[in-house]
Amino acid sequence: MSLTGLREPGLKLILFGGKGGVGKTTCASSAAIYCAQQAKTLLISTDPAHSLADSLGQEIGDTIRPVKGVENLSALEVNAEKAMAGFKSKYENEIKLIFDNSSYMDADDINALFTLPIPGLDEVMSFKTIVDLIEAQQFDKYIVDTAPTGHALRLLSMPGLLDEWIKVLATMRWKYHRVVDAFGGQNRTNAADDFMLEMKKTVKHIEQLLKDGRRCEFVVVTIPESMVVAETERLVRSLKTYGVAVRQLVINQVVESGLGLCGFCRARHKAQQVWIDRLHDRFRNLRATVMTAIPGEVQGLGALNDFKNKLFETV
Ligand SMILES: Nc1ncnc2c1ncn2[C@@H]1O[C@H](COP(=O)(O)OP(=O)(O)OP(=O)(O)O)[C@@H](O)[C@H]1O
Ligand SMILES: [Mg+2]
Repeated sequence: MSLTGLREPGLKLILFGGKGGVGKTTCASSAAIYCAQQAKTLLISTDPAHSLADSLGQEIGDTIRPVKGVENLSALEVNAEKAMAGFKSKYENEIKLIFDNSSYMDADDINALFTLPIPGLDEVMSFKTIVDLIEAQQFDKYIVDTAPTGHALRLLSMPGLLDEWIKVLATMRWKYHRVVDAFGGQNRTNAADDFMLEMKKTVKHIEQLLKDGRRCEFVVVTIPESMVVAETERLVRSLKTYGVAVRQLVINQVVESGLGLCGFCRARHKAQQVWIDRLHDRFRNLRATVMTAIPGEVQGLGALNDFKNKLFETV
């Protein structure tokens, strides 16, 4: 079997995820090359330890740039810290205004609070970057190389967390408005309210996109080893809880059987079979694509192209 459906025009966002080192970047890069043959595609990495540049064999950075040697493909390594800094400077006044109007904190307290890292907000920023790009409609497809499982799941849980955060701020604003009303002051919506509305919209858009199986799909990458299988089970379960569509699985780095295998490869093949069976059994409702282990690394456009042909059975 091979990966399927990724060229569906309605499918905009395709995320590749899984445990560390299983082949997420390789699969995401190959899928992006495959999609670019037909549609204008953007390959995005949200892994803070970016490796798109290594995989594609050329420099990629935190601004969108065309991938040399692949028509219709551009790439971007999201710099969450930079996105966060941009967001803070854009909305600094609005956020400070919320605290200023709503609490007894003085300017120093507010400044101190503002410079504190808000847990998870940088991940939200990576997602906001993606959603903004999708809404700008410059590309037909957005393929995301995510960080290993834990990080990717945190990314998915962020809209909910951010929503909580907005609720707290909104309550503070509401109390402030009531006090102003009680003293007969002028109660206008101001920049702080606009900011919260904007954030609320962003959260809603992220959630709507992630939970729409026609527009978004998460491809899980795994290898047939006990620890990886256990983590894959947890990942698929969590994705289901978040309501993200998972339809297919890549079982990567599989040692094929055959005559002439050395003792090491024979033993490895045998050990892997147990876990391949387990994966097929456990994920009966998912389409599984088995990718053989390739001697040497899958690095550079030539190797990725061969990998893509196998992954999508285009040869
Ligand atoms: N089927 C395969 N056969 C042989 N080597 C492979 C195969 N798939 C991936 N690799 C190699 O395995 C290594 C890890 O792959 P990759 O970087 O895609 O994994 P990853 O899941 O993105 O890792 P990380 O979690 O570190 O981001 C790379 O050197 C890649 O070239
Ligand atoms: Mg990677």
